[in-house]
Amino acid sequence: MSNVAKLEYNGQVYELPIITGTENESSVDIRKLRDTTGLVTFDDGYKNTGSTKSKITFIDGDKGILRYRGYGIEELAEKAEFMEVAYLLIYGKLPNEAEYTEWKKQMTRHSLVHEDVKKVFDAYPTGAHPMGQLMTMVGMMSSFYPNSQDPQKMEEDRNLTIIRVMSKMPNLCAMMYKKRIGHPVMYPTNELRYVEDYLSMTFGNPCEKFTVDPVVASALNKLLILHADHEQNCSASTVRMVGSAGTNLWATISAAIAALWGPSHGGANQEVLEMLQEIKDSGITTKQYVEKVKNKEAGVRLMGFGHRVYKNFDPRATIIKKSADDVLKKLGVVDPLLDIAMELEQMALSDSYFVERKLYPNVDFYSGIIYRALGYPTDMFTVLFALGRLPGWVAQWKEMVEEKQPICRPRQIYMGETPRAYQSIKDRK
Ligand code: CMC
Repeated sequence: MSNVAKLEYNGQVYELPIITGTENESSVDIRKLRDTTGLVTFDDGYKNTGSTKSKITFIDGDKGILRYRGYGIEELAEKAEFMEVAYLLIYGKLPNEAEYTEWKKQMTRHSLVHEDVKKVFDAYPTGAHPMGQLMTMVGMMSSFYPNSQDPQKMEEDRNLTIIRVMSKMPNLCAMMYKKRIGHPVMYPTNELRYVEDYLSMTFGNPCEKFTVDPVVASALNKLLILHADHEQNCSASTVRMVGSAGTNLWATISAAIAALWGPSHGGANQEVLEMLQEIKDSGITTKQYVEKVKNKEAGVRLMGFGHRVYKNFDPRATIIKKSADDVLKKLGVVDPLLDIAMELEQMALSDSYFVERKLYPNVDFYSGIIYRALGYPTDMFTVLFALGRLPGWVAQWKEMVEEKQPICRPRQIYMGETPRAYQSIKDRK
């Protein structure tokens, strides 16, 4: 295979090196393009742009492959604990027993948040969207740890910040839920594992001992693993964009949470449930709803369908669909929304509109059904996505800092006015 690509422009031929990754994906190295040719590339939405080299996650969208550090998502979802996967993403290897014991110890040692955090938290209006609260709460944490504000500091300091971010996040996420239902905030319990502890802080209360349902813990463990990283998606790219300015990890994660909130990204899980509920409440058939989507009525999309990278199937959706079925059965929950989702899926998969555009169910299509069965209100769904995605964001940030990625600063194609003279206000039309 050739190791250069040739570009002919204005009668000259330029040779551009080809970079090939370990999975044989090739890219044209255009880093010198502007200097040598005066050209920049145009790729809005970065559909064809490799923004970084990375060793964290591999996706083959055509074949439906997703691997974290070389391990297939199916195997990890089946066998691993979320905290093992978090370690794998962040440090590049599955922890051995001693490393895992230490990692879990660190997670409990730092899980408390400063009591003053509650004062800020109290100031949010009841009913505020949890993602908005989470975004500001996480960003605010940098004020409690001024040492974290210089990420270029020693590796040891950086690592302490990573541990703090990872260990405090379940506590912060649980607070959102407590605020929503008006219950007192719960403290972490050190003898519980990460996922169990999070469930206990969410669904426990100070009046009685809380026992974690293993079915619920196992379902959540799987969901968090499936969400843990997804290479250069919108929020991970936000991490690299914001972090490239030398911004600290807390503030960078806050920016990632903002990106995730959007309905085209993580916010889709909330939108899916609302869509299913709307179909149920309005009494229209799934066929009628699909027609609305196909007619692009008021921009209506089939939420939970389509993906920028997966054009065949989303391997996470395949696992989640099966899991939704299992969890509902085990918990004895009968959810009519699951039937509507299955009907919608069947209809869309055999409809030429979706087939031609390669639109398949994505990770968000069935996850909401499980979250609902576990007892979460709809607006908490994206918070759960954030909790799951956190190790991925941290890993992307760590890799970016260690690889000394230059500040992100894309170019543009200016399409505005050419120079013109200022007019005094009375002369303006
Ligand atoms: N329903 C109906 N039509 C759709 C959908 C959909 N969900 N998604 C894409 N299309 C159509 C779109 O209208 C366009 O049609 P046309 O060629 O006639 O203009 C065509 O498919 C290509 O769409 P696109 O917006 O150019 O595709 P994209 O790769 O830029 O967008 C996407 C990917 C995920 C933003 C989009 O499919 C979407 O909006 N899906 C619904 C939201 C959703 O479920 N998001 C969660 C993504 S997975 C979780 C995560 O990783 O964030």
